[in-house]
Amino acid sequence: MKERLELLAKEAERAIEAAASDKDALLQLKARYLGRKGEFSGFLKELAALPAEDRKAAGEAINQAKTRLEDAIAILIGGIEGRWKEAALAKERLDVTLPGRTMPLGKRHPVMQVMEEIQEVFFGLGFDIAEGPEIELDSYNFEKLNIPKDHPAREMQDTFYVSSDVLLRTHTSPVQIRVMENKRPPVRVIAPGTVFRRDSDVTHSPMFHQVEGFMVDKGVSFANLKAVLADFLRTFFGRDTGVRFRPSFFPFTEPSAEADIRCVLCKGAGCRVCKGSGWLEILGAGMIHPEVFRSVGYDYEEYSGFAFGLGVERIAMLKYGIDDLRLLFENDLRFLKQF
Ligand code: PHE
Repeated sequence: MKERLELLAKEAERAIEAAASDKDALLQLKARYLGRKGEFSGFLKELAALPAEDRKAAGEAINQAKTRLEDAIAILIGGIEGRWKEAALAKERLDVTLPGRTMPLGKRHPVMQVMEEIQEVFFGLGFDIAEGPEIELDSYNFEKLNIPKDHPAREMQDTFYVSSDVLLRTHTSPVQIRVMENKRPPVRVIAPGTVFRRDSDVTHSPMFHQVEGFMVDKGVSFANLKAVLADFLRTFFGRDTGVRFRPSFFPFTEPSAEADIRCVLCKGAGCRVCKGSGWLEILGAGMIHPEVFRSVGYDYEEYSGFAFGLGVERIAMLKYGIDDLRLLFENDLRFLKQF
């Protein structure tokens, strides 16, 4: 039996050597020689027939041979799997020093950015926000703002009409009416929005944006108007910005004013942008007209208020030094990416 055992072990060793790099073949050999019905289990059965004093040594010899073969197979399979893993790792190697792929992120349009910045300043002063429709009634856009049908002031604003009494709002001032009709004083509101006029050149677009603001309470004065607007302009354009107020005319305010700032480009020396004057017109404002209060049912003996309207594109152009309004609406990424 000892000789047959050695012969079988040799045979198995050779077979294992021949299959050294083939995992499936090794597993088959393992089953064939070492499995429960494998060739070595035949020897174990023979043990019973041996004389008792030989049994132990023979059993040990069988087990040693089996263990040797088992170890040999395990080492070879371990080697094969190790090489597979290495190959896989080599193939999937990542260069962690490569720059990442950035997602192209969109951004707010410069006009919207400026609009938000304007809102932030007025939020800081305790103003609430309100909005109104872009398709507006003639009565809100004009009549309740003290601009009757035959009023010459209508010609200041070239209007897109939808029908005889429906139009695209030419300014955000109708939001004043809508808010005051629904809320008693005190009110402190800003109303940002899109407005439309039949106008188109280097400094005019048929669609543009305004921020309206107004404040109504007992005892609101022109001094309050000046303080709020001067503070806004200096917050926005810089603390040392020169600000001045000039008399002007709007049908819905009395007295009316326009505010100018020192030219941001030439600092007042006079240039192309300020047309040599050293000043830039920046907003319209005034004390809300008694007729406007009457149309919304406010008592003008008891309350007073101021209102203002500013053009967002104009402010964006001054802030960023843009010299053609149309750039803002062409949606050219090379332009938009600069903000
Ligand atoms: N609505 C005016 C305009 O569009 C601006 C303005 C608003 C003036 C409020 C005075 C008060 O020109």
